[in-house]
Amino acid sequence: RYAYVNGRYVEHREASVHIEDRGYQLADGVYEVVGVRDGKLIDEKPHIDRLDRSLKELRIDWPVSRNTLGFIIRELMRKNRLRDGLVYMQVTRGVSRRDHGFPTTPVKPALVLTTKATKHIVADAGSGVAVKSMPDIRWERCDIKTVALLPNVLAKQAAREAGAYEAWLLDDKGCITEGASTNAWIVTQDGELVTRQTDNGILSGITRSSLKTICNSLQLKLVERPFSLEEAKKAKEAFITSATSFVTPVVKIDGEKVGDGKVGATARRLREEYVRFSE
Ligand code: PDD
Repeated sequence: RYAYVNGRYVEHREASVHIEDRGYQLADGVYEVVGVRDGKLIDEKPHIDRLDRSLKELRIDWPVSRNTLGFIIRELMRKNRLRDGLVYMQVTRGVSRRDHGFPTTPVKPALVLTTKATKHIVADAGSGVAVKSMPDIRWERCDIKTVALLPNVLAKQAAREAGAYEAWLLDDKGCITEGASTNAWIVTQDGELVTRQTDNGILSGITRSSLKTICNSLQLKLVERPFSLEEAKKAKEAFITSATSFVTPVVKIDGEKVGDGKVGATARRLREEYVRFSE
């Protein structure tokens, strides 16, 4: 299996970057994760658009042209015979002697891509997952998809150690911002879909955005607003979205059942619709 590293396709186990890469030392870089289903990229354009935005926000140049990146993605998928799974791409500011400020002499941004084979995404939602709430201790630019993920790492680990699949992060008002690596949704007792509005407080998920379109076409009522942990616990249903989780029902929050503790009809339906959309 291959990885792409700065212009070369190399054996994955031999792939490496320089010790003074700013991504490694300072988390000075951005990334994207794109799902692949039946050899087809899911939502490629919006993912690349978001990468472009992240790069601009951090003033990192594109390492290659957008077209070239599209070619590299496909070439790596072909070499790795990827049918179902994920493509990971990462751009860091480049290699330069360690200094917090940007390099004063121009450096070329570093580009790395890997693929990961996973199971074919299926409409069956399984039995749902548990989430655990905890404080959101991240910074004020969660809208940028940076590789600076330490708070997310610690949250995910705390969730796992509590037997949960995902962490739900709470702001200082007791409202859920999002998951450690997913967006959070609930269905209220009135049947209204709720997900937090996008601003600097959360990552504007591509899956979230596609699901919004799906909700509109199904004429489901969707409101983008903050919702509290209390409201989530009293909700009829809950679920999470991301390129890796698609639409995954949440059946437990902090050990308490959501609704009857079974996968809800809306989450099940939306997962089915999302799977159809990704075909
Ligand atoms: N995570 N929120 C956060 C903090 C995320 O890291 C992600 C994605 C999402 C969902 O975004 P999208 O629907 O575009 O995948 C929301 C990726 C999958 C990851 O870090 O692996």
